[in-house]
Amino acid sequence: MCGIIGYIGNKEVVPILINGLKRLEYRGYDSAGICVLSQNKLETVKKKGQITELENELIGRGINGTMGIAHTRWATHGDSSVVNAHPHLDCKNKIAIIHNGIIENYGALKKILEAGGHKIISDTDSEIVAHLIEKFYNGNLEEAVIKAIKYIEGTFGLVVICESEECIIAARRGSPLIIGIGDDEMFVTSDASAILEYTRKVIYIKDDEIVTLTKNSYDVKNLNGNLVNSEIQEIKWNLKEIEKAGFKHFMLKEIYEQPHSIENTLRGRIRDNKIKLSFDIDPKLINKIIITACGTSWHSALIGKYLIEKISGIETVVDYASEFRYRNPIIKDNDLLIAISQSGETADTLAALRVAKNCKTLGIVNVVGSSIAREVDFGIYLHAGPEIGVASTKAFTCQVTALILFSLFLRQELGLELDSKLINELSLISEKINSILDKADKIQEISTNFKDAKNFLYLGRGINFPVALEGALKLKEISYIHAEGYPAAEMKHGPIALIDENMFIVFIINRGEIFEKVISNMQEVRARGGNIITITDCPEDEMIKKLSNFIISVPQTQEELSPLINVIPLQLMSYFVADAKGLNVDKPRNLAKSVTVE
Ligand code: F6R
Repeated sequence: MCGIIGYIGNKEVVPILINGLKRLEYRGYDSAGICVLSQNKLETVKKKGQITELENELIGRGINGTMGIAHTRWATHGDSSVVNAHPHLDCKNKIAIIHNGIIENYGALKKILEAGGHKIISDTDSEIVAHLIEKFYNGNLEEAVIKAIKYIEGTFGLVVICESEECIIAARRGSPLIIGIGDDEMFVTSDASAILEYTRKVIYIKDDEIVTLTKNSYDVKNLNGNLVNSEIQEIKWNLKEIEKAGFKHFMLKEIYEQPHSIENTLRGRIRDNKIKLSFDIDPKLINKIIITACGTSWHSALIGKYLIEKISGIETVVDYASEFRYRNPIIKDNDLLIAISQSGETADTLAALRVAKNCKTLGIVNVVGSSIAREVDFGIYLHAGPEIGVASTKAFTCQVTALILFSLFLRQELGLELDSKLINELSLISEKINSILDKADKIQEISTNFKDAKNFLYLGRGINFPVALEGALKLKEISYIHAEGYPAAEMKHGPIALIDENMFIVFIINRGEIFEKVISNMQEVRARGGNIITITDCPEDEMIKKLSNFIISVPQTQEELSPLINVIPLQLMSYFVADAKGLNVDKPRNLAKSVTVE
């Protein structure tokens, strides 16, 4: 999510760190900082915005040395600001840390540290780590870091230096860290692109490993302090390939990130079958819920309506933000307005939020500290990481995950029993998505048949009708093929007139109550010569086999979670069709990542 680089050697460290940060810029960031051991003192400089601003800030400061760490931040806890930027320091400015990941128990650790007299100045979860290491520091940084990370729940890629030792300590759990080995110099980074111009010899640190770097040695140990064997590997990729982690496009990389980003949305929010969200909303006082959003976020809003009404029984309406803001909507004081936005900056969604002056508001947002995140009364951050591809993928599945959590939260706060099977199924969802991603080759093979198609219909029912809309949107925005989504049963009220042998129809059909009804819709299409692509959890069904030209099978799950599964082949299909057409998948024509104008 954020970018890390550290260096120890004989060269002047500041240009190496700034260069590395610039290489990490493609990931998206909101602030950056550097800490260098300069004349036996830790000197720290942080700046909001571009790396060049940090670079300018360093001019004339006389900071020089041969050991230092630097970080680009993409906010997860606490707004984008200088105080929240990394590196973070202990109370005495003698220990500096940079951290990627999420410290789940930072609230509890903060209380303990503050009670022990530590002064915590930022809103971040990361700063806690500097103080925890300070608490355990007794002249040996490595030992102090080992002790500190035993107290941390959550994920970290952590790099630490201190004033009194010439070494860098790095540790990892769930967040990537790579050691770069040079001649009389060592590097540590979250992303090989930052060090590629200096060395291609690397070690990929594993979870719960801790590394001590001096300029000519590296010790990799486990948390018991025992040395472990680690293999030196040679990087063969070029820079562009590395930025995309070997994927051809950011969109494909982000599709593959979904199992992990969904886990980040869930992290720390379910404990002992209870939903933990950090706000006080009493659902007994809510009259109705209004959800407003645009584009893909509006599709997750439609799924949200289904989820909230089914799970909590609270009436929920959904409105396009661009319509809501101009039609004098009826908003009661005891309504709750939910604004969903990946960027948190979409002009129409922000304006719709501002229309709801008299009721409480909740934001479901990815970008921390964005306008929507700042203006709402309550919030659920997605923690999906930066989404760079213009076509939204991982933000969508994380929004749906956040809406599942919120629906369960409402039910719990109403005093109703939670469905433990559903909660358990949620914990399996990433694995199930991975099993679809493992079959991407097959989906690619099928998709090449559609590159000359002119028209597509996407049909689904119930909670999967919005998934049909999302599949159609993905195809049109990156493949420029006309596509429409419909509730399957609506087809006979008009769109059926379009069906002939040139029409491609995607059906989303899962076992359950309306299975037979969707089969009838498939028959109607087949009778008119349409080509059927079926996304289903029952590929063995004889009727499905008979009626489909192509079948993409997906794992079974509970109905409430089925959008998270069914959307994956649709994202992959649109990606592969656009790629087969040779289109610029990450930057489709006429589209911007964040629509900040009306
Ligand atoms: C489609 C897409 C857009 C956005 C829409 C809202 O792939 O990305 O439809 O979903 O512009 O953007 P956010 O969620 O940032 O408010």
